Amino acid sequence: MIISPSILSSDFACLGQEVRSLEAAGADWVHVDVMDGAFVPNITIGAPVVKAIRPVTDLTFDVHLMINDPIRYVNDFVSAGADVFCFHLEATDAPGKTVDAVLSAGAKPAIALKPGTPAEAVFPYLNDIFMVLVMTVEPGFGGQSFMADMLPKIEKIRARDKNIHIQVDGGINEKTGAACAQAGADVLVAGSYIFGAADRAAAVRQLRGRF
Ligand code: DX5
Ligand code: ZN
Repeated sequence: MIISPSILSSDFACLGQEVRSLEAAGADWVHVDVMDGAFVPNITIGAPVVKAIRPVTDLTFDVHLMINDPIRYVNDFVSAGADVFCFHLEATDAPGKTVDAVLSAGAKPAIALKPGTPAEAVFPYLNDIFMVLVMTVEPGFGGQSFMADMLPKIEKIRARDKNIHIQVDGGINEKTGAACAQAGADVLVAGSYIFGAADRAAAVRQLRGRF
């Protein structure tokens, strides 16, 4: 099980220390939520922030782009230090071209699905991508409740592809994370669960659970 804490729930006034604390807590990746105020209502951070925190850790930077026409920003984020470039299928008319652009830039392409987008929509791309992100809340904000009706979507993708990484994001805690793992997910994103915990290392261990 890969644990990828979302820094959206961190204290932005001391972001470097927050990222360092994740490494100390035993996290595997760092999940960076980029929002443009257009694809989703919220605005968060951009490539300069990714660049600023890149020297702080060697952990994989898993960048979740909730932005329209993500191909425009592939080079910015990859040169800033993104290892995984995860864009929304709903945000582009050219998913195949975007995947190719990420590969040419030297990063790992991943595709995210909003709750309303069916599993089948990503099937044509599975051979070319590193990971599918199944959103378990509507993208835009941390701290929302997990949508259990996304579990069959995870199962469908896992049935179609035994090897691809399947990530879940939104409302993940030790209970909902275990349900997702049971359904076939192998990467858990968690924001409020980890940053709200008194002991972040214990929270990471809890999430890993028995998987
Ligand atoms: C929501 C973001 C998530 C969010 C998760 O649009 O993509 O990564 O930070 O936060 P929690 O774990 O609090 O639901
Ligand atoms: Zn996210």
